[in-house]
Amino acid sequence: MRYFDSSYFTYKNNQLFCEDVAVEQIIKQVGTPTYIYSKKFFIDRYTEFTNAFKEIKHSIFYAIKSNFNLNLIKIFSNLGSGLDVNSEGELYRALKVGIHPQKIFLSGVGKTKREIELGIENNILLIKTESEEELILIDKIAREKNKIAPVHLRINPNVDPKTHPYISTGLAEEKFGIPEEEAIEHFRLAAKLENVRPVGVGMHIGSQITTIAPYKEAIEKMLELFLKIKSAGIKLNHFNIGGGIGVVYNDEKPFTLQEFANKVIPIFKKFECEIMFEPGRFLTANGGIIATEVLYTKQNKKKNFIIVDASMAEIIRPSIYDAYHHIQHLVKIENETIIADIVGPVCESGDFIAKDREIIKCNSGEFLAIMSAGSYCMVMSSNYNGRRRAPEIMVDKDKFYITRSRESFQHLLFDEQIIEELFQ
Ligand code: LLP
Repeated sequence: MRYFDSSYFTYKNNQLFCEDVAVEQIIKQVGTPTYIYSKKFFIDRYTEFTNAFKEIKHSIFYAIKSNFNLNLIKIFSNLGSGLDVNSEGELYRALKVGIHPQKIFLSGVGKTKREIELGIENNILLIKTESEEELILIDKIAREKNKIAPVHLRINPNVDPKTHPYISTGLAEEKFGIPEEEAIEHFRLAAKLENVRPVGVGMHIGSQITTIAPYKEAIEKMLELFLKIKSAGIKLNHFNIGGGIGVVYNDEKPFTLQEFANKVIPIFKKFECEIMFEPGRFLTANGGIIATEVLYTKQNKKKNFIIVDASMAEIIRPSIYDAYHHIQHLVKIENETIIADIVGPVCESGDFIAKDREIIKCNSGEFLAIMSAGSYCMVMSSNYNGRRRAPEIMVDKDKFYITRSRESFQHLLFDEQIIEELFQ
């Protein structure tokens, strides 16, 4: 049986630890299912990123959509990171942490009028725009507020990132960005409008990208465009390559950041401007796990099932992207391995965490760790089947902190009320 290779989640005396805290100790206090994060992982990943690009002028804007825990946002911002926010809700979180608005930019293919207003009112660094209508709306809102809004134009470079279709965003058929062939026209318009100022150009071609080639192809296309924009007399301060860098969940062999830097830095230098990155998954995925309890095991004629107390409500990635997450015991035990489906309690056949997975035989009452759960797990969680969202724990060396408790039943009701008039 293979254990996930991590220096942040390791076994000591056959017990799974996060840094210097036994995971079992955490769940004794908070129960399961529970998200558990390693602070050191996040710091090391950010440091690795910024070191790889230290020879060029660059900035990192952590994409908080991958994990918007307030403490995590603060960890990255204390290291100097800016934030990429995608909605009013994410902006609210960022401002709550006390991030300087000039360290925030606003992304998204469908920003509402209110979101644009908030971005401008709060004086954030810039707003990314993805269509002519949106550009004109930003200009109008900025005029009403007597301001000039710095904008980036997100271009769709029409490159195949070779990832899952649901997380591929840089092909011409997708909803994202401005088609590359219309980019110059859009920049001319942006330069003409009085209340926006184009300050940069960007792309984001997809997520969980494990080869350098699609990036290189897209960056080279963007360089050509960047130089054309420059010769049209429009001076840009930044080129934003987006996020998307892939990580190991199973047996992927993603490029290392150093390999990436070696290949792309020579191209970046030709832009002669600040290079921006907006990584999410790279910084967070392998910094978290979900601890879960085995509720029951059963077999039918076709399959073995391990029914755990985590579900698609806490981790929807296997259900919607067929994503692989490694699953292993919290206490290493010697037992035969079986092939089983590891499933949750939600009443959907799509509620599975793994299918036909080789795993050490489990018994009810044992605990498992679902690995690589630091990105796109908590943030995509739901209350389906009346489930309360799981707590989030941050481990720092030999201490752990409950950064968010398990939701209460009051959370499930929020301000929902029985309206007597409906029953008269
Ligand atoms: N920038 C933009 C404009 C994005 O749309 C995204 C992610 C990122 C940055 C960060 O990408 P990352 O470095 O994390 O790949 N829920 C999916 C992933 C969706 C990604 C959405 N956009 C999953 O669980 O795999």
